[in-house]
Amino acid sequence: MVSALRATRAAGDAATQPPVEPPVEPPVIDLHDVHKVYGQGAAAVHAVRGITLRVNRGDYVAVMGASGSGKSTLMHIVGCLDVPSSGRYLLEGIDIGELDESQLALVRNRKVGFVFQSFNLLPRTTTVQNVELPLAYAGVRRPERRHRALAALELVGLREIADRTPRTLSGGQQQRAAVARAIVTNPSLLLADEPTGNLDSAATRELLAVLDRSHAGGGTIVVVTHEREVAAHARRVVNIRDGRVIGDRVQVPSGSPESPTDEAVD
Ligand SMILES: Nc1ncnc2c1ncn2[C@@H]1O[C@H](COP(=O)(O)OP(=O)(O)OP(=O)(O)O)[C@@H](O)[C@H]1O
Ligand SMILES: [Mg+2]
Repeated sequence: MVSALRATRAAGDAATQPPVEPPVEPPVIDLHDVHKVYGQGAAAVHAVRGITLRVNRGDYVAVMGASGSGKSTLMHIVGCLDVPSSGRYLLEGIDIGELDESQLALVRNRKVGFVFQSFNLLPRTTTVQNVELPLAYAGVRRPERRHRALAALELVGLREIADRTPRTLSGGQQQRAAVARAIVTNPSLLLADEPTGNLDSAATRELLAVLDRSHAGGGTIVVVTHEREVAAHARRVVNIRDGRVIGDRVQVPSGSPESPTDEAVD
């Protein structure tokens, strides 16, 4: 009886209570006044000079700026390949400055996928084995590893060439394999530093389609590029000059249904 009363009261209370707010998700990238200085004294290079930047889940950001402006330095920090000289970086709410080397490596493996300009695949190892590597580091067992690597290759349109070595692939195929390797762990963040720098226009378009699909599937992407065509696919463009953010704007990406000029100009 008492418990029935309690239950009634609880139900009544619930009906009059405001709905519980879902927990606020931290940004994927949260940089606060981050600086990076290479070297010391007269030889010191101040590559990043106070960058404050937030990137939320599902964002697709292009980072642009002249050569030497600090884009790669910023990407290395964001990807936990390097640490800031000062300032604070939180990756999905984790304060990167508080981690030791091995914790940093773990976060990198679990949360970040990297694609570089020079594909960085092991040349004598099959494509599927290349894609499996981050899973091996993460301790995923062999049958599941193979299954997931093949699924990632399928996503980038390379399922058929899984057993070939990278040196028998075109540049565009190698870069898509590199994307498969970057996304196979299902990372929180996909970082690409001039991923189309070594690709011709057809391969560039194929790679952009892969990035678009990854974004449409919920991925968070930051891509450094010098090319307008590449930046046009992002939803946001951040401009860097001399280690500082000098522009940050949202745009309608080309390739999206909202884009009025899509495919019309080619
Ligand atoms: N490991 C390093 N040691 C010393 N200086 C470095 C190092 N890495 C980068 N720098 C310097 O920091 C500055 C920014 O370099 P960074 O590679 O971040 O530029 P970037 O914007 O990526 O250029 P690019 O478009 O040419 O790739 C440059 O002056 C560069 O010479
Ligand atoms: Mg660079």
